[in-house]
Amino acid sequence: MRKISNLQRARYGFEIELPKVLSGDINNIELVEGEKTNSVSDQESIKKLFSKTYGLPEIVMGKGENKEVGKPINVGVILSGGQAPGGHNVISGIYDALKKANKDNNLYGFKGGPSGLVDDSYILMDDAYIDEYRNTGGFDIIGSGRTKLETEEQFSKVQKVCEKHKISGLIIIGGDDSNTNAAVLAEYFAKNNSNINVVGCPKTIDGDLKNEYIEVSFGFDTATKTYSELISNIARDANSAKKYWHFIKLMGRSASHIALECGLQTQANITLISEEIEKNNTSLSEIADYIADIVIKRSQNGENFGLVLIPEGLIEFIPAIKKLIAKINDLLANNKNQKDLISYVKSNLDGELLKTFEDLEIIQDQLLMDRDPHGNVQVSKIETEQLLSHLVKQRVKGKVPFSANHHFFGYEGRAAFPSNFDATYCYSLGYNAVLLLTSNKTGYISSVKSLEKPSCDWTCGGIPITMMMNMERRHGKDKPVIKKALVDLEGKPFKYFKENRKDWEINTKYIYTGAIQYYGPKEVCDSTTITLNLERN
Ligand code: FBP
Repeated sequence: MRKISNLQRARYGFEIELPKVLSGDINNIELVEGEKTNSVSDQESIKKLFSKTYGLPEIVMGKGENKEVGKPINVGVILSGGQAPGGHNVISGIYDALKKANKDNNLYGFKGGPSGLVDDSYILMDDAYIDEYRNTGGFDIIGSGRTKLETEEQFSKVQKVCEKHKISGLIIIGGDDSNTNAAVLAEYFAKNNSNINVVGCPKTIDGDLKNEYIEVSFGFDTATKTYSELISNIARDANSAKKYWHFIKLMGRSASHIALECGLQTQANITLISEEIEKNNTSLSEIADYIADIVIKRSQNGENFGLVLIPEGLIEFIPAIKKLIAKINDLLANNKNQKDLISYVKSNLDGELLKTFEDLEIIQDQLLMDRDPHGNVQVSKIETEQLLSHLVKQRVKGKVPFSANHHFFGYEGRAAFPSNFDATYCYSLGYNAVLLLTSNKTGYISSVKSLEKPSCDWTCGGIPITMMMNMERRHGKDKPVIKKALVDLEGKPFKYFKENRKDWEINTKYIYTGAIQYYGPKEVCDSTTITLNLERN
């Protein structure tokens, strides 16, 4: 038998407290339909593209007889994109709801992300298999991948695979792009008079799949608690030795939600927020001046140490660098085979763009690396933490002592054991998704709300994915997509941060968060993020 940790063994037995509305007899959960809905903007264009699935009503779960639940159904599930703590619980919630509804129901877990669905590579889930993954982190239950499901050819293959296994419900666990594709797939099946329904579940540690209807994407809670533990351990080390500045880059791709939440949890000296930097048109050199100024001021107080939190996507939000990246993308798209890429790019730049590129000397090669399958710069591979400390060093040299350490926290938090919050939230999302599918709902995202309350008081339902969509320019074409949520500079979390940051910059006011606790007093184990609390209260 495979050896497992004591915590893993204990977590297998963690009892999920389902929202009241989902608990008890599964045949006694009715789907109450609300008013017909509209997309957040660009209604006419989106209506045209989703003629079958546009305008569906919002759904709220309530107590009442449900005759649909018990009908036999086979369901397929995929995990899409980056890992996020709690994915295994979404799948165990799906599995348990299916088996409770009808013991002959089947769950097919397609392996390695969307490509598993196209290639018919799957695991048929059973009790023993599921039990090994309950309340554990990672996506290793079936694996994940970043293949995009977007072409008719892929859709037709998916349809054949589903028909082969008599699958009439698909659950796509993913971020904004994957849920957008879930809506497109739902529309495709509806147009082809297929009986396959598609439902999404909101995943991503980045926290950017968030709106009026999705209070938080799963994984954000655990990931930010994990990073905050590491950051606050470093803070205490720094405050003990009093000799290092730590430059810590944090995952989150574009949005700075993770950096903001970790800044709020730990009260690190400096937290950069990309959205603010873009709004103020701040240059790289101004960011370095700002940090250097704080390094000097703290040194005058005898504090030759500190912490700088840097959101992963920062450089794409610095207007001059954003322009440069757009130009480099064009150059690379046309000439991938150049031997000396740096010289090639330089020879095609002039004026401000050339100057910006030269200023980025220490990360030039990273800016030229291959793009991801969505055409994005792989920001996780760009060492902004090195770049910033290099620029700060140039500014404070000879004035104050300055010694820097560098860290990048991302993968450390994506596969952690889900917090009690994420474990319960994810299980509820999966359970709820099955209720949508057994009632023949398609093009919906599973939605669990009122998350600031204890789990028994959460509300559940389904939100038409088209309702969250707008049109955006992607790869030169107007596309319907779920609106990505960046940090709202008028929102309560950022405002609270802004009110306090001057104090945290100069004074040492670190909060030592400690590790995620799974057992113990509720206020230690079950509290959610500061962001969610400020937004919801
Ligand atoms: P998703 O948006 O797919 O959830 O991924 C989030 C993320 O963790 C980002 O924060 C990060 O930039 C990216 O994945 C890293 O991707 P990869 O796992 O492919 O290195």
